[in-house]
Amino acid sequence: MFQVKNLHKSIQQKQILKDISFKLNAGEVTVVLGPSGSGKTTLMRTLAKLEPFDSGYIFLDDIPLKAVPASKIGMVFQGFSLFPHLTILENLTLAPIKAMELLKEEAVKKAMDLLEQFGLADKAAAVPGNLSGGQKQRVAMCRTLMMEPALLMMDEPTSALDPEMVKDVAEFIQTLRSKNRSMLIVSHELRLAQLCADRVFFMDEGILLDDLSKEDFFDPIHQKISKRGAKFLENYMAR
Ligand SMILES: Nc1ncnc2c1ncn2[C@@H]1O[C@H](COP(=O)(O)OP(=O)(O)O)[C@@H](O)[C@H]1O
Ligand SMILES: [Mg+2]
Repeated sequence: MFQVKNLHKSIQQKQILKDISFKLNAGEVTVVLGPSGSGKTTLMRTLAKLEPFDSGYIFLDDIPLKAVPASKIGMVFQGFSLFPHLTILENLTLAPIKAMELLKEEAVKKAMDLLEQFGLADKAAAVPGNLSGGQKQRVAMCRTLMMEPALLMMDEPTSALDPEMVKDVAEFIQTLRSKNRSMLIVSHELRLAQLCADRVFFMDEGILLDDLSKEDFFDPIHQKISKRGAKFLENYMAR
């Protein structure tokens, strides 16, 4: 279980994350919604140890974040950040060979198994420039899965893709479900949350206003959702 307690973070004296607390159960998919600038990416970067925080606690199975190996927390970035000059296979094996001291042949086998699983085996020798957006995203995910993370995070997985691909991304996320990991997905696409979330978080101005089951979040009579969460939903539906 991944646990965050009273997390505060500021950047240049501005409070970006304000007293954030939540738990993520293994096996669950949580989608984080919220307007642009509400702190979603900063939250992910902080959980991925890419950013320091001011106060609070973050634990993975009762181990404090700073003692958790970086490989246990995987994040797929907006734009995917694949190395353009390396082949797909090299993109997948580079970090595990370095960080996990995997033997090259073990890393290659693991990478080929993952590429196979995601329908990309024939792209192993290609470079990222020759792949479609959706394929690049799946490669970026394979690269993260190489490290066997207990927490898997994706920032705006649909933003670099065509809007019609939301459903494909949702299906892809379903295939990534595993009882051994939690998934946290930031999106501005309500439909993605409707299609694949177990839980929905709604953030606004650095505050986690809603932490609800999908059913409670999308409840048409807004019994449990915050006022601002309900407003966000209504604005989205009216688009
Ligand atoms: N490196 C930074 N320097 C200054 N301000 C930042 C930095 N990163 C994020 N912020 C500010 O933090 C707030 C939250 O940003 P972000 O986490 O990117 O929000 P979201 O992902 O929800 O759009 C914004 O007001 C943004 O301007
Ligand atoms: Mg963002």
